[in-house]
Amino acid sequence: MKTLTLTIDGKICAGAAGQTILEVATASGIEIPTLCHMKELSPWGGCRMCIVEVGGIAKPVPSCATPAADGSVVVTKNERLDRLRKLTLELLFSERNHICPICPMNKGDCELQMSGYKFGIDGIRFPYLYPALPVDLTGKYLGLDHNRCILCARCIRTCDEIEGAHTLDLGNRGVKSQVIVDLNSTFGASTTCTHCGACVSACPTGALFDKNAAFHGALKRCAQVRTTCAECPVGCGLVVYTMDDRIVDVFGDGDSPVNRGHLCVRGRYETWAVKRERLTEPMVRRNGALAPVAWDEALAAIRAATRGLKSGEKGLLVSGRLTNEAAETLAKIRPSVSSVGMYVAENEAAMCGDPGAARDVFPLLQEADAFVLLGADPARLQGVVAARIRVAVRKRGAKLVMLNVRSSDLDAYADISSRMVGLERAFWKRVADVLKGRRKPVLIYGPNAMTSLGVAAMEKLLKTFDADCGPSVIGLPATTNALALSAAGVEAVDDLSRWFASAPLRAVHVCAADEPAGGARILREREVAGCLKAMEFVVLQTAYFSRLVELADVVLPALAWSERSGTITNFEGRKLPLRPALTPRGQARDDADILESIYA
Ligand code: SF4
Ligand code: SF4
Ligand code: SF4
Ligand code: FES
Repeated sequence: MKTLTLTIDGKICAGAAGQTILEVATASGIEIPTLCHMKELSPWGGCRMCIVEVGGIAKPVPSCATPAADGSVVVTKNERLDRLRKLTLELLFSERNHICPICPMNKGDCELQMSGYKFGIDGIRFPYLYPALPVDLTGKYLGLDHNRCILCARCIRTCDEIEGAHTLDLGNRGVKSQVIVDLNSTFGASTTCTHCGACVSACPTGALFDKNAAFHGALKRCAQVRTTCAECPVGCGLVVYTMDDRIVDVFGDGDSPVNRGHLCVRGRYETWAVKRERLTEPMVRRNGALAPVAWDEALAAIRAATRGLKSGEKGLLVSGRLTNEAAETLAKIRPSVSSVGMYVAENEAAMCGDPGAARDVFPLLQEADAFVLLGADPARLQGVVAARIRVAVRKRGAKLVMLNVRSSDLDAYADISSRMVGLERAFWKRVADVLKGRRKPVLIYGPNAMTSLGVAAMEKLLKTFDADCGPSVIGLPATTNALALSAAGVEAVDDLSRWFASAPLRAVHVCAADEPAGGARILREREVAGCLKAMEFVVLQTAYFSRLVELADVVLPALAWSERSGTITNFEGRKLPLRPALTPRGQARDDADILESIYA
């Protein structure tokens, strides 16, 4: 790559052809004020806070949108530039209602407010316009107060370039310009918004805000914990903001090699902005009703009820969300419980047999020019992967073929989408036409590809790609840590009735860990409630209340995602850390510790 040399504020700075003046200056440790710029997004050049003087050019230029030229002499700070920046800020403050004390971003979280302090704005020379603009509170988790908007378009570009949804745009002209949702709709009525919250993370002011975080504490004053989202096998990096031992907000970790700051709605909101009823104390069933007891009493009740049972009569059914460390405990306690199964999604057990080779998947997604999704639905389960696919289709013209038994939000972006029924010769001809000439195809398969129809479709597909250009094949499971747990020897079970029938069980311990619905998904298999009722003794270990509680003789409170520590291994084979952001609620304990105290 051609290198460039510039003089910025008297300092010789090296850069590469194609870099902007701002990028070269930032890399050389020279700070230039910005507002509409975000390094992850394409340049916009809208706010003019980043103006600099370039030798030979009469007017200041926006450094974020001006390519660095070899040999140029740049000045980033002088009295004239500061005067113009101050003028820009005054105009921004005059246009809309920026009364900071009643804004959720007040006290250090707002880039506009901070710029105002930095440039000494204590009043403005222009009349305030203060139009009465609407506030859209219809979003599931976010709100948009147009009165705080500075039209920097960071939200619009983020939604377009990172989430790939292009829900947002600019409507109207001049002073009437406004961010619009879909075709001037609302977040609540939007048909394209995925509720990922990426636009909120990008907004420099209080215009876009998280409804559950607003006025719960300034982020600048919160403690921050970097941990990993355990809602799916992608394992996105999270930054959890806490104050007084409660979560104020959750953002993506920009330093994570997996998601680079981006999250889907599950990791961004559902874990904390959706209220879940916690179980905080051990309980034992007496005279038909569950009653709170001390830990020792609950453990004694389990030992007493299972003392006479042989190891083959005791079953342990664990969630695929357990940590790698819990897997070590399971190996240790194996002699005491011979039937250990891990419940996974429908058809997922076959995926667990083959954990696949560890590799970086995101660069493949970033470069792919065609995607075939077979039995996988990342729009529902692994939103950050879906975002990469949407961006590739919309921004880079990548092709998309969707084959699945159920419909997906990604169908709207697909060249071909089929429910995998009646796939005739003409259909495969269409698929081949779509994939023809594609040099970097990616085939992503999920649990629903693990059926006889799915395997037949996979064989057909592999012959459909150009002979000299086979696809990168990526397995995308549904259950968070199922691949690692199965590699550690825990048997994956996707037919629970058969698992119950395969051993002469008299007692079962369901370890649901911190599953969002308290493990109740096992009741989706019709016969499972009957199998549990037929047991002489049922122990339930879970963080959240669910219908399963009614079937249990002893209930043990487990840690939730924000309290857990240890590691999980994502679908790329990366070992990722879980770090506690909160102290355990009530008497909740770590899953591995509980298992060890009963069976070791
Ligand atoms: S929440 Fe996500 S999809 Fe919806 S407008 Fe914001 S960035 Fe776009
Ligand atoms: S809503 Fe926020 S990010 Fe979007 S244009 Fe307005 S100020 Fe910028
Ligand atoms: S893609 Fe998966 S790991 Fe990432 S935020 Fe969404 S649910 Fe969490
Ligand atoms: S940051 Fe460059 S114009 Fe806004």
